[in-house]
Amino acid sequence: MEPWHGLIHHYRGFLPVSDKTPVVTLGEGNTPLIRASRLNRELHPGVDLYFKYEGSNPSGSFKDRGMTCAISKAVEEGARAVICASTGNTSASAAAYAAKAGISTVVLIPEGQIALGKLAQAMIHGALVLQIRGNFDRALNIVKDIVARHPIALVNSINPFRIEGQKTAAFEICDQLGIAPLYHALPVGNAGNITAYWKGYREYNEAGRISTLPKMLGFQAAGAAPLVTGRPVESPETIASAIRIGNPASWKGALAARDESGGVIESVTDEEIIEAYTYLASKEGIFCEPASAASVAGVIKLSRRNFFSKGDGIVCTLTGGGLKDPDIAIRMSKDPVRVEADVSAVEELLRGCCI
Ligand code: F0G
Repeated sequence: MEPWHGLIHHYRGFLPVSDKTPVVTLGEGNTPLIRASRLNRELHPGVDLYFKYEGSNPSGSFKDRGMTCAISKAVEEGARAVICASTGNTSASAAAYAAKAGISTVVLIPEGQIALGKLAQAMIHGALVLQIRGNFDRALNIVKDIVARHPIALVNSINPFRIEGQKTAAFEICDQLGIAPLYHALPVGNAGNITAYWKGYREYNEAGRISTLPKMLGFQAAGAAPLVTGRPVESPETIASAIRIGNPASWKGALAARDESGGVIESVTDEEIIEAYTYLASKEGIFCEPASAASVAGVIKLSRRNFFSKGDGIVCTLTGGGLKDPDIAIRMSKDPVRVEADVSAVEELLRGCCI
């Protein structure tokens, strides 16, 4: 089998790159599509469920797909620095790809509101990390003003090259399954990713690689669900900090994906997100971050309403890896048990549970 050289190399014909584009890659893409082993049977009335595990990307989230394109194009256009607002993953990815490219990164994050793993990534890759006393939506507005005045490349998903890169996840799913799924579920925050997937599926369809299109199922956290309520949320709140966004930049793209595909965008509560998050870890062996579990929480919720038919093919994107947010994993788990360093003390504890 041919070695994997990153998604620009693999899907070059579908991407706005030329021979002159200096490709900045960390080997992103080619992530596993994992077949569910329990949830498929537990969901009513029995479905064919897969997880697209984007935590396997180099910086641990789907953002790397967009970032390889955005940073390559920024370098092609002569940028010396990039900037983004972020709930964490975009900043981690931008910092990694900019480090690889040898250019500077500035990230604006909501103070005290991003998961520890993501903060550590932006810091160790050498980004200038600016914490603002304000939320993501405010940070994005500031960043837009800065790039209007200074020659710094914006690498949020309003940069069209981000969407171009991220659409390749849809291509991979079709290549891995051999067909398009009937449903595609994903968490929605700033709404770039649902926009990108829908673009990817449509392009693959136009190119004759798939003959059907999936219905797009987007899920927002209940405390940050502007696309569901129909108006921006002033102070978004959810345990899933990655999608704590009140005024998504790709609002129109998300609604187009929903309406053109005949799908839905709904909300899931923090309790439902955590239920899906712990289920995935304890029953499917998959550790994702809380925001990622919103896609699965949404599918569980719809199945309880008899939304699906037997055997329906569903893909849930798990957008980021669980180690991004160790605090929540520890908070949601049983404490380790203290025991003397002694065989009989350990045996005593095992009795009645596994010996
Ligand atoms: N899941 C994770 C893990 C994310 O980090 C994000 C967005 C989303 C889902 C939602 O994707 O914004 O395209 O609808 N994170 C951005 C960030 C906002 O700054 O890292 P979206």
